[in-house]
Amino acid sequence: MNILVTGGAGYIGSHTCLELLNAGYDVEVIDNLSNSREESMIRVRELAGRNIVFHKVDLLDKIGLDKVFGSSQIDAVIHFAGLKAVSESVEFPLLYYQNNVSGTLNLCEAMKKYNVKNIVFSSSATVYGDPHTVPVTEEFPLNPTNPYGRTKLMIENILRDVYNADNDWNISLLRYFNPAGAHQSGRIGEDPGGVPSNLFPYIARVAVGKLNVLSVFGNDYNTTDGTGVRDYIHVVDVALGHVKALEKLERVSGVIVLNLGTGRGYSVLEIISAFEKASGRKIPYKIVGRRSGDVASSYADPSKAERELGWSACRGLDEMCEDVWRWQASNPNGYE
Ligand code: NAD
Ligand code: UFG
Repeated sequence: MNILVTGGAGYIGSHTCLELLNAGYDVEVIDNLSNSREESMIRVRELAGRNIVFHKVDLLDKIGLDKVFGSSQIDAVIHFAGLKAVSESVEFPLLYYQNNVSGTLNLCEAMKKYNVKNIVFSSSATVYGDPHTVPVTEEFPLNPTNPYGRTKLMIENILRDVYNADNDWNISLLRYFNPAGAHQSGRIGEDPGGVPSNLFPYIARVAVGKLNVLSVFGNDYNTTDGTGVRDYIHVVDVALGHVKALEKLERVSGVIVLNLGTGRGYSVLEIISAFEKASGRKIPYKIVGRRSGDVASSYADPSKAERELGWSACRGLDEMCEDVWRWQASNPNGYE
């Protein structure tokens, strides 16, 4: 089977391409490289010992998209391409709606034209907003609190409508919690441009000496040590969840919504100490005020994915920290 991966040069996309190749799928990637480098594709090819066809195409470019679909036989799409920075989405909402929502509309139109009706979509736990309790099940109310999250919910709804109009579509909506970690080879990993806004890449850059000190956003939450609690899931487990979701699409039709998480939450201070252990480096940190929009605690009930896909996350926090450290230490400048 030939799988088209949009955003395949990015963090989760590159790890998923590798697992798809390892599982025997053929892979083509569309990416405009707005938040990634083609070097990730070179490294995935090396690790898998197999080729990936790479198309530098923007999802907003309908003609370019049409050419990709017209020139290849595509069996299914995994759709990662999108902008994902919460604070940037608050500042530039139109950019986010344009890129994420219009990009998806173009993709769906091309899929419809070329009769490709299988899609796995990267949604996010952000669609739940501030959950009233934890763990979070797929039935929780959907109430995103920022434009980025609203693009995810809009796209989920668009895809449901596409299915309602044509029941031949098979759609998986995967809501990831907090992907972290890197491939154990240390060859591919997360490479955010500028100063990272997420915890793991920030800590990694402090550990490697590129940043001086981590700001811990609040220690007065109602959690075990007062700092925010999240469900960090190894990116390779997330990637393998996509392979399982694809297998499911081949067997069963309809729309399926699944959380991808571990079911276990860790506080910021627990992450710092696990990272110190893995790296052997001290992580200087200071407690500062809460970050606007953050919730105290969010972790998944992952039992539906286990039931429906026979998938569960099997890599723990220590492995996540060791893998991030290996990636960061051997690539202090990322893919540059
Ligand atoms: P990423 O930025 O590393 O990857 C996204 C890729 O999409 C990048 O390579 C970028 O160049 C590409 N892209 C963006 N807009 C495009 C466009 N218009 N046309 C073509 N390519 C385009 O991000 P990631 O962390 O790998 O996330 C992948 C997906 O998972 C995103 O949709 C994100 O919203 C979602 N997600 C991520 C997280 C997380 O914490 N990393 C959590 C939940 C959901
Ligand atoms: N944190 C710090 N200091 C930092 C960065 C983060 O203390 O420099 C804390 C946050 O306050 C939070 C925790 O670390 O308690 C995790 O923060 P991240 O920014 O890594 O992750 P979030 O849970 O805020 O959000 C991430 C993605 C969203 C996605 C969400 C759920 O950024 O896009 O996970 O999937 F929607």
